[in-house]
Amino acid sequence: MNASLDVATVAPFVVRRAERADLDALEALEGAFPGDRISRASFARFVANTATDVWVAQRDAEVIGDAVVVYRRGFVSARIYTLVVAEHARGTGVAKALLAHAERGARERGCVTLRLEVRDDNESAIALYRRSGYEVVGRTADYYEDGSAALRLRKRFVGADAHLLRVPYYAQTLDFTCGPAALLMAMRAVGWEGTIGQEQEVAIWREATTVYMLAGHGGTSAHGLAVAARRRGVRARVWVDTAAAAFVDSVRDAGKKAVIELAHRAFTSELASDPDAVRVGEFTVHDVVGALARGEVPVVLVSAARLHAERAPHWVVITGYDDDHLYVHDPHLPDGTERADGVHLALPRRDFAALSRYGRARHRAMVVLAPSP
Ligand SMILES: CC(C)(COP(=O)(O)OP(=O)(O)OC[C@H]1O[C@@H](n2cnc3c(N)ncnc32)[C@H](O)[C@@H]1OP(=O)(O)O)[C@@H](O)C(=O)NCCC(=O)NCCS
Repeated sequence: MNASLDVATVAPFVVRRAERADLDALEALEGAFPGDRISRASFARFVANTATDVWVAQRDAEVIGDAVVVYRRGFVSARIYTLVVAEHARGTGVAKALLAHAERGARERGCVTLRLEVRDDNESAIALYRRSGYEVVGRTADYYEDGSAALRLRKRFVGADAHLLRVPYYAQTLDFTCGPAALLMAMRAVGWEGTIGQEQEVAIWREATTVYMLAGHGGTSAHGLAVAARRRGVRARVWVDTAAAAFVDSVRDAGKKAVIELAHRAFTSELASDPDAVRVGEFTVHDVVGALARGEVPVVLVSAARLHAERAPHWVVITGYDDDHLYVHDPHLPDGTERADGVHLALPRRDFAALSRYGRARHRAMVVLAPSP
């Protein structure tokens, strides 16, 4: 049997990656899109960009549909930026095929969730996504230029073996309170019953800060966070690569260094009453997974440069794991993102060692909170 004839009968179109030569077609397809449109210049960037997958469906010589998937640095959560099929080609399975390719591409990159927004009155698209296993995770009023609302949909590829702890999400409300925000989430997950909000966030920041970072905002150290948790009756252990004060090499000013040392000594002496409170040494992803398996919640220092392209130390909560990933609540929501963008984000286990260190000293720190016995 003639193979190409066979393909032509079974699949009257093919799906492939877009090239620059497709820009005219992509631009024309967007014309059929209701509301906000993607410009030709944006398509050119998407096609050239390795952080984006652009898929096109082609029947004979004609491009009849496209799908764009955007990946976020560091994490393995992807977003369908657009999906459109030419009007005359609708109802023949083109969108379904594009979506299948988009999902396969995302999974090949190790992604475990795919997200998208759709107009809440776009019945055909909503039907398509629901049938393909997407669930509605929220609704945003006034999302589109014309003021109409968007439904937010998500599909998870999390394996059945994923072990996720119930950790509430709380976004930091200030630039420098990732540590307190992460600690609040973790404390609640291990049974703390206090009120999560800005008052506690700032109170913990004031208690746990040792350092003057960059322009002068204080950051929080593992020791400081553990002290703040313990003062609230939560069992907290520190695991750090050095007994020395964190971040000292991030400041030049001798006076600031002295303040950091002083705060660190105070935290250390407050923790000294418990011989298990501080452990000095390297930790691995296996230690993190071991803690999670016991129901403990690790709050880990990571390099924000790898997640948000900002040069700062950053605290996140580890919320679960599967064979290939760790899951993270990231308290920092960059402009234009929303809660769903910070919740149970997956990062490859193999990236953990590189991610969980900060600064020239390659400092590593985590605070592990345990449920009350
Ligand atoms: C939504 C859209 C992409 C669907 O494309 P399509 O190629 O016609 O869809 P398919 O033929 O692959 O259909 C797949 C599934 O979608 C659903 N669907 C598609 N069109 C539908 C319609 N008019 N009414 C109800 N369900 C519909 C069906 O569940 C269908 O599965 P089934 O055929 O097994 O029942 C297309 O209508 C389009 O481009 N619309 C304008 C752009 C847009 O709204 N994009 C989505 C924004 S996020």
